[in-house]
Amino acid sequence: MSTTESLLVRAATGRPGPRPPVWFMRQAGRSLPEYRALRVGSSMLEACRTPELITEITLQPVRRHGVDAAILFSDIVVPLAAIGVGVEIVAGTGPVIEKPIRTEADLDRLRPLEPDDVPFVTEAVRALVAELGPTPLIGFAGAPFTLASYLVEGGPSRDHALTKALMHDDPELWHALLGRLAVIARAFLQVQIEAGAAVVQLFDSWAGTLSLADYRRFVLPHSRAVLEPLAGVVPTIHFGVGTGELLGAMREAGAGVVGVDWRVPLDEAARRLGPGAVVQGNLDPALLGAEWSVLEAEVRRVVDEGRTAAGHVFNLGHGVPPTADPDVLTRVAELVQSLG
Ligand code: CP3
Repeated sequence: MSTTESLLVRAATGRPGPRPPVWFMRQAGRSLPEYRALRVGSSMLEACRTPELITEITLQPVRRHGVDAAILFSDIVVPLAAIGVGVEIVAGTGPVIEKPIRTEADLDRLRPLEPDDVPFVTEAVRALVAELGPTPLIGFAGAPFTLASYLVEGGPSRDHALTKALMHDDPELWHALLGRLAVIARAFLQVQIEAGAAVVQLFDSWAGTLSLADYRRFVLPHSRAVLEPLAGVVPTIHFGVGTGELLGAMREAGAGVVGVDWRVPLDEAARRLGPGAVVQGNLDPALLGAEWSVLEAEVRRVVDEGRTAAGHVFNLGHGVPPTADPDVLTRVAELVQSLG
């Protein structure tokens, strides 16, 4: 069944429907008891390699919340693990890299991704697309910078100091590293698109740690190399946290939709992005724990401010926190869906 006329694809291509589509980053995950039950006994990366688990976990939030899109259950480090990079996802911490990438010799460990490296993704996406019918499936990849930050630091980092030092000290090595990661991200998205993903999102979660000048010089060309070839293929979304100063540059990377966190109101974001921009966001995830009257007013504000853009995809400003009450998320989805 075609997803072309779904609210998500319409909004993402600047043909908005009667209301914004709604989905939540990290809608699949620890906020759902049914997710926690399914995950008993398998590591995160094992679960990401098991088609039946990928399919079921992806569908859980669609069934429960009635959201307007599914997002594939996977992780940004799945393609790295699939080409043999030693990586573990540690609960409560995030990805930890066995041997960080810091020298030219280390680059040899980042060979291109082949579809045969991730057969479980192809299988799960095909099954999901059949199951979802008119509801679009969002595929995703980590952007070159965010992947590089984990590979260089060896794990999550607050200040990204090693990553920033590397980009400035050895720009040639930096660009070679990001070039390889762009090839991997593009291939990972391509696998998902060929199997039927209707939309893809590029997560550059930590790009907001950079100055505009550094973003333009060290990151933008590589994100563009991932996104530009997809123009006219599927709608694309480009997201990062704390990117208020980078929004215009991020749009130049070529995605049709730019994700905005809660720090910049969507009307101001649309102004910074320029005419014709489609925005995604931007309810503050922390407010999921506030009184319903507060949350309701915030949801209405976000929807109102989103109307100033050429299209709006309702979402949180970042992922669902593990502590979120799933019933509150359902209520937020229902509220957005009631706002014609
Ligand atoms: O529902 C969805 O959004 C789809 C699934 C998804 C996951 N990771 C599943 C996951 C997506 C889109 C991601 C992307 C991802 N992974 C990003 C970019 C998005 C963002 O949040 O900015 C990043 C930075 C990662 C790396 C990563 N993986 C982190 C920081 C963590 C959290 C670590 C923790 O325990 O707090 C993970 C693990 C992870 N990825 C979980 C899930 C459901 C939790 C693992 C668990 O259940 O133990």
